[in-house]
Amino acid sequence: MAVEGGAKCVKYLLFFFNFIFWLCGLALIVVGVLAKVSINATAILKGYTGSPLVVIVVGVVIFFIAFFGCCGAWKENQCMVTMFAVLLSIIVVIEIGAAIAGYVLRGKLTDALNKGFDIMITGYNETDNREAIDSVQKQFKCCGGNSSEDWSKTKFLAANSVPDSCCKNITKDCGVGAIKDANKIYIDGCLPIVDKVIKENILWIAVAALVIAFVQITGIVLSCILMRAIRSGYEVM
Ligand SMILES: *[C@@H]1O[C@H](CO)[C@@H](O)[C@H](O)[C@H]1NC(C)=O
Ligand SMILES: *[C@@H]1O[C@H](CO)[C@@H](O)[C@H](O)[C@H]1NC(C)=O
Repeated sequence: MAVEGGAKCVKYLLFFFNFIFWLCGLALIVVGVLAKVSINATAILKGYTGSPLVVIVVGVVIFFIAFFGCCGAWKENQCMVTMFAVLLSIIVVIEIGAAIAGYVLRGKLTDALNKGFDIMITGYNETDNREAIDSVQKQFKCCGGNSSEDWSKTKFLAANSVPDSCCKNITKDCGVGAIKDANKIYIDGCLPIVDKVIKENILWIAVAALVIAFVQITGIVLSCILMRAIRSGYEVM
């Protein structure tokens, strides 16, 4: 029967793709954890993603969702397939929220970045802020938001000092007392550079978001088809 063939096909599609996603999630977790413990990998990862912690969190989310999808499809377990569809739907709703926020705030990007830098600089004692701004400063060879002098706003460094990540040649304490020393540090701020890079990449971010949303919505549709087939007591296998 056509329905049997179709439902079976959906089952294996869901299984196959979720198995791949599950492996990807696992790989992200492994890479993230390795980066947490290894300095070199950390430097590389941070350049691309901001923080190994972000990689681990994304990996764990993908791992769990794909696990439900993969096992649910294989065992034709309605509960797990439902869980998969619900979790995926929640992620899609969050993404839609982020996309709307992004659209609404697109004109305020510079303002938002300004605030972001301000928060990271004045809150430099918090690990997340420190890792984020250090990686930005290293990657884009810049210092502070508008200029290196922004660092005078933080209480968490010695007077007239910048983080070592501002240095042209990074060594321990190379930023101490160097807030205006253009020989030692990059004195140009990161704000204009990051602003430009984001604006240049916004098209690709939008395309990537659309592709991801398409894959996710396909996953939700397939899982609904499979759920119906399972619920109707149909022997999918
Ligand atoms: C950082 O400093 C702020 C304000 O001084 C304080 O409230 C916060 O607990 C500190 N955080 C850490 C991780 O030390
Ligand atoms: C950069 O300069 C603008 C305008 O002078 C100011 O509003 C903003 O707070 C500054 N940004 C940072 C991170 O200091």
